[in-house]
Amino acid sequence: MEAYKRLLLNNQAWVQDRLALRPDFFTATSGTQKPAFLWIGCSDSRVPAEEVTGVEPGELFVHRNVANLVVHTDFNMLSVVQYAVEVLKVKHIIVCGHYGCGGVRAAMSRQHLGLINKWLRHIKDTYRLHATELDAIPDEAQRYDRLIELNVFEQVHHLAELSFVQLAWKREQRPTIHGWIYDLRTGFLKQIAKVDPGHLPHDIFVYDFPDA
Ligand code: CO
Repeated sequence: MEAYKRLLLNNQAWVQDRLALRPDFFTATSGTQKPAFLWIGCSDSRVPAEEVTGVEPGELFVHRNVANLVVHTDFNMLSVVQYAVEVLKVKHIIVCGHYGCGGVRAAMSRQHLGLINKWLRHIKDTYRLHATELDAIPDEAQRYDRLIELNVFEQVHHLAELSFVQLAWKREQRPTIHGWIYDLRTGFLKQIAKVDPGHLPHDIFVYDFPDA
């Protein structure tokens, strides 16, 4: 059997399992979605958002890219966040990085990788911002783990710099922004950052909303 056919067969079994547990599963959930969480994670195949958090279809709005970056010129990510904040009205945004992230590892190297260099350059910027701390870590594995954490920390702050996040904070006191790390070696999630509504970033990123 060709490998991809297993996926289609799995899908048929999954539908049967779902219907056995709840006969109206698809009719009940196909009309609309009201997820409370936006998940911004890495594209890595070993970090399946719903599975590691134990949630059902309909609970997570998901955006994934290489190394879970929030880049302010990425219209894909911006569109996802704006829709999640303004239309779905999510209560929480979770940025989840993971130890063993290949994107962060590549950014730590001097390898020339073509187009993806442009994307990974944002992680090199994070390294430069925290170079004093990172360069003082002699063990390369520990420095790698720490850059993975600092990368999540920076993306959390990038979210707080978005005008539509600040507007939602002002009008509706949501969303809370979380930074988590998934440990591939243990399966556990670890919280490393939490920014509550109204906890504005540096003054230079704060917007005035005269009509808000
Ligand atoms: Co990764």
